[in-house]
Amino acid sequence: MEYQKIINTIFDEVKQLKDKGNIADYIPELAKVNANKFGIALIDNEQNIYKTGDANEHFSIQSISKVLSTALIFSKIGNELWKRVGFEPSGNSFNSLVQLEYENGIPRNPFINAGALVIADLMLEHFENPKEYFLTFIRELAENNTINYNEKVAQSERENGYRNAALVNFIKSFNNIKNHPDDVLDFYFYQCSIEMSCEDLAKLFQVFANNGIVPKSKFQFLTTSQCKRINALMQMCGFYDQAGEFTFKVGLPGKSGVGGGVVAIFPNYYTVAVWSPKLNKKGNSYYGLETLERLTTITEASIF
Ligand code: DON
Repeated sequence: MEYQKIINTIFDEVKQLKDKGNIADYIPELAKVNANKFGIALIDNEQNIYKTGDANEHFSIQSISKVLSTALIFSKIGNELWKRVGFEPSGNSFNSLVQLEYENGIPRNPFINAGALVIADLMLEHFENPKEYFLTFIRELAENNTINYNEKVAQSERENGYRNAALVNFIKSFNNIKNHPDDVLDFYFYQCSIEMSCEDLAKLFQVFANNGIVPKSKFQFLTTSQCKRINALMQMCGFYDQAGEFTFKVGLPGKSGVGGGVVAIFPNYYTVAVWSPKLNKKGNSYYGLETLERLTTITEASIF
């Protein structure tokens, strides 16, 4: 497949689109990003890298980090995880509180904020220095030691994170948060602040396209069954209340973040990451979704 030609064509087409959405400004530090950035990186199953635009510039991965924290804790504690968090799509926005009360503090899935906060709590329970452990894990998988937390972004989110504070306290009232809410929020804001490029992200997610095995080292990070489950979660919950539309139009498991990043995987074929900071009304990258819809349309291949 001529992936380089395909992503070049898509890049040129998508750049012409008029309705490009709005940059996230509820975290003031994020609003400082140049809204016109646009990059694509695709890595095939032989680890060839195809890229265009701002594919090597670091950006805030935000909620994409939820896949990584979930996978890490799942690899550590296995199916015990599902006692604390569910695996159903929520059909609600990423920071919604409504389901928690009548579902007794068990978040629908680990990719909505409520679920990611429970995962953050589990990270504190199971790792002595979770921030350091998480970063080391990500650096190893992406083979890039320059990947780091952005303290300013984490701080900026902490100063404005009233909804996440409400969520973590509410879940704690159901006894589904074990640590102090401030400590859970601290890990969560840091994990969201991680910065990397489209190329790093595509490389990192290869493990999910390769049955849980890191392609280069052959390290089995997740079992085949665990990998299936993480991918199923990405398919059902990766885009919140737009997960159905993403599945309908793109047909790949994926995850978005309010920094404008989107990553998707085609198991046994490729991983692809797109970055463009302007978001649609559901908080997902406008260009990102347009790019991926074109990719599976032009290549006539998706998991369906
Ligand atoms: O919790 C928040 O508001 C952010 N740090 C992460 C949100 C996010 O990326 C949602 N995804 N589209």
